[in-house]
Order: sequence, then structure tokens, then C-alpha cells
Amino acid sequence: MLTVAVLISGTGSNLRALLEATADPGFPARVVVVGADQQADGFAYAEAFGIPTVMVPFREFETRAEWGDELRRHIDVWTPDLVVLSGLMRLLPDGVVDAWAPALINTHPAFLPEFPGAHGVRDALAAGVRETGASVIVVDGGIDTGPILAQERVPVLPGDTEHLLHERIKPVERRLLIETVRSIATGAIDLSVYRTGARSDASASDPL
Ligand code: GAR
Repeated sequence: MLTVAVLISGTGSNLRALLEATADPGFPARVVVVGADQQADGFAYAEAFGIPTVMVPFREFETRAEWGDELRRHIDVWTPDLVVLSGLMRLLPDGVVDAWAPALINTHPAFLPEFPGAHGVRDALAAGVRETGASVIVVDGGIDTGPILAQERVPVLPGDTEHLLHERIKPVERRLLIETVRSIATGAIDLSVYRTGARSDASASDPL
């Protein structure tokens, strides 16, 4: 059974979907802890499923590194096999990426490498593209630059607002995230091939 920590910042709708999927006794992974960098609405889902929560407020630390170390200390108590960034809107410091990678994945509401960063949906709309997408990646030291594990296109429709488009992307993200976690749990995806420390170039095909 793969044990999973999920890190969020806000609504937690993808977290909710993962909690629902992993609550099925036939699913090969369990969420063991949910963490956040602030008081997040998504904690309510964790509590509803009886999953412990950890809040390490980013704003109360002098440096990103100190915040990350504290977050890691609290999450590592639960010895998760995999850490999922599901709407965590803070960059993890290099030390934490190095400690958790490659068992550290991120969901993103765009077809990476297109539109990385905190405003993937807004940026796609502003660029006037006809389709964007959703991606699940292994985290490396860059901003949404790690190896892509799963992705799918989502059309941009006439009249789309950032909210409407994001709400159409999220169900795709959820499906990709759940299938990716399942594949990691069953061994269909082997994360050990990705040597994605914070200072690596995130390539799975580099010579040793
Ligand atoms: C998701 O779309 C996630 O991919 C995105 O935030 C949303 C969180 O929604 N993350 C990023 O943009 C990170 N670059 P949720 O809190 O309802 O699951």
C-alpha cells in the first residue's frame, strides 16, 4: 500500500477527489496526511475523511528554507512513500525537493511545458490559444519543469473566463492525478528512473 502526503494551499477539490478514490479498499494507495502553507479550505475534506492535517504558515518564517524544513519535519513524521503537490501555491526550497524527489509530484492546470507557474489558466487565456490542458509532473528544482508523467489537452471555448476554463480543466487534472497515483502504487510508473533533485536537469534519460 502506497502512503501519500498531499500538500495544498486552498480549495482542495483535487485533494477531495484523491481522498474519495483512495477510500476505495481496492485502491492501492492511502492518503496519510494533508499539509498546507496556510489555513486552507481543503482541510475540511481531510477532516471529513479522518486524515490528519498539518499547517505550517509560510508567512511566519524568515526564509523559504526554514519554512520548508519545518513542513518537511511535520510531513516526514508520517513517512509517506509519495508527496503530491495538489494546488500548493508555494515553491518548495531546494533542500526539501532534494529530500523528497523523485517521489514528489505536482499537478498543473496547463499542458506543460506550456504556461508554467502560478497562473497557468490565466496565461493560456491571455495567449489566445485554442487548447490548453492539464499535466502531472515529477517535481524538480524549476517551476513546473520536471518530467511529465501524464497530460491531456482541454479545449479553450468561446466565452471562457479563467474560472470557467479552470473548472473544465480540474476534472481532467483529477483523473490524471488519480491514475498517476495508482500507476505509481502498482509499479506501472517507476519514479526511481527520475533523478530530479533540485539541482538536476530533470531528465530521465541522462547518462549516469
Ligand atoms: C489546481 O488546478 C492545481 O493544478 C493548481 O491549483 C489548483 C488547485 O485547485 N496548481 C497550480 O497552478 C500550481 N502551479 P484545488 O485546490 O481545488 O485542488
